[in-house]
Amino acid sequence: MTTTAELALPMFPVAQLQCETDTGIETVPLAEESAFGSWQPSIPERYWTMDASELRRRIHEARATLGSKVVVLGHHYQREDIIEFADERGDSFALAQYAAERGESQYIVFCGVHFMAEAADILRADHQQVILPNMEAGCSMADMAAEPDVWSAWRELGDFFGGTDDIIPVTYMNSAASLKAFCGANNGIVCTSSNAQKVLEWAFERGKRVFFFPDQHLGRNTAHGMGIPLEEMVLWNWRAPAGNLGSSSPEALERSRVILWQGHCSVHQRFTVQQIEQARAQYPGVKIVVHPECRYDTVQAADANGSTAYIVKYVEQAPPGSIIGVGTEINLVSRLAHEHPDKTVFCLDPVVCPCSTMYRVHPAYLAWVMESLVDGVVVNKVTVPEQHRSDAKLALERMLALK
Ligand code: 13P
Ligand code: SF4
Repeated sequence: MTTTAELALPMFPVAQLQCETDTGIETVPLAEESAFGSWQPSIPERYWTMDASELRRRIHEARATLGSKVVVLGHHYQREDIIEFADERGDSFALAQYAAERGESQYIVFCGVHFMAEAADILRADHQQVILPNMEAGCSMADMAAEPDVWSAWRELGDFFGGTDDIIPVTYMNSAASLKAFCGANNGIVCTSSNAQKVLEWAFERGKRVFFFPDQHLGRNTAHGMGIPLEEMVLWNWRAPAGNLGSSSPEALERSRVILWQGHCSVHQRFTVQQIEQARAQYPGVKIVVHPECRYDTVQAADANGSTAYIVKYVEQAPPGSIIGVGTEINLVSRLAHEHPDKTVFCLDPVVCPCSTMYRVHPAYLAWVMESLVDGVVVNKVTVPEQHRSDAKLALERMLALK
């Protein structure tokens, strides 16, 4: 019988391509990573040359000085040298919930990406301020839905259907606050990957159709899981010139129950059916769990799919000796492999690299924002514009109220 040890995979079976994640991300000084030159280079010069151990010492000292004045939130995709400092780590839903609980802390340092920090800023208490260590930590998927494009599609849908009363807009958490506000103002709601089905059920109780953005895959996978056939979904190509019904035919649009924005996550689109087939051929009995931002075919070929928190639980609950192929960001997969030495956990994509925007939260930035707070200076404060705040809050609170 083959033992787990014999099956043990290199943690990141990197083929010929060089990818730093084959050994986990090691923090090197900012000055040695050329890309940081264009990602919020305004960080003071002294931080550019600090090595990992100095940064670690400084963050620990700042934390100790700040005490309960600060809470550090860390998304599962953050690197280890950041997660180490997180008071709370979680998926985007759990972190939003945490912000909505409005703890005592004066500062919420959000180690994640911009849309998550914006959600925290919308939900925080009046006495709190939200800080994002690197303001360039965005999300390429969120950037695929620009407010004017969404409004233009909405108007076109209204013209086509003779009004929008029967269309419920649903935005994925991975979107700008202005789009959450758009949903709040138009009887819509926000969803995350952990509650998308509940949110779509809520939406179908209120309208005939759902306009879902920006992630086509989460929308398609969720709607299909609810029994909506693919023929009743259309893809809205936002690059098509206005007046072209997002490149869909009038018949398809008429038939549709779900209108999917043509957005995607470049990290999750990399996971394929072929990788799953290879894993199954190589490791009989392997279980495959993927994030619902993966393509429809990939999700269909997997054993399970769910949010980052779901994936964490899936691995935790698997019996010792399990072999689990995971389709999500590499920092989380790497952490799960380390935390569960009695199981074999590996990334489905042999050449996957980290989410490049999550990666921008380098410890030098965390040290900078924390030491600034010690000096009484707030840097990198995330402030949602007042004109979006209350409608965006409405859409987020509708989501948080779902049981
Ligand atoms: P979760 O809500 O599952 O944490 O996902 C957030 C995200 O950005 C996935 O790419
Ligand atoms: Fe955005 Fe994809 Fe990164 Fe998640 S993994 S933050 S969706 S780019």
